[in-house]
Amino acid sequence: MHDDVARILLSRETIRQRVAALATEIVAASAGRSDGLTFVPILSGSIVFLADLIREMPVHMRLALVHLSTYRGTQAGQPRIVADLSHDVRGRHVIIVDDILDTGRTLTFVRDMLAQREPASVRICVLLRKPGKAPASLHADFVGFDIADEFVVGYGLDYNDLYRNLPHIGVLRAECIAAAVQPPR
Ligand code: IMP
Ligand code: MG
Repeated sequence: MHDDVARILLSRETIRQRVAALATEIVAASAGRSDGLTFVPILSGSIVFLADLIREMPVHMRLALVHLSTYRGTQAGQPRIVADLSHDVRGRHVIIVDDILDTGRTLTFVRDMLAQREPASVRICVLLRKPGKAPASLHADFVGFDIADEFVVGYGLDYNDLYRNLPHIGVLRAECIAAAVQPPR
């Protein structure tokens, strides 16, 4: 375990099993639309999750990438597009994939942005969901784990762009989190 991690919340094996089950759920819920599936991972946090998830799904699928950056503190977590959608999603059954649903700003932003591109449908899949902060209007269709409101890293999730490569998900030590304005994510 990395020194900056206070404790492991989800082990590599726990994640592996849940991601496989989630893939099965998505395939079952996509009967009839499996030829038109496009996954839209939100970079960078979702890449490890996405890579494991799609390899558990024996269906025809495409990817369209979108890269966002979310500034906290002074800009109150407003998402900004770093790179726009890599592929057209018109007429496609889209599944947005993100690492974590916290306030819901990021997913609301991407969902609304995609809605303008005329997809056949839009659903949301997140590995983690924190309680309470997202608006009721933002529904996640597929959720890996509901977790407590603690800052977690690993398996794609970062702090200050670090720790994405940890194979598990762990709670970051409080002393590693700057007390003042948080850096860009
Ligand atoms: P939201 O827009 O507040 O829902 O936050 C979503 C984004 O914030 C995610 O894509 C993450 O990049 C980041 N985030 C929120 N909570 C955590 C956490 O506990 N660890 C790492 N990143 C987080
Ligand atoms: Mg992040």
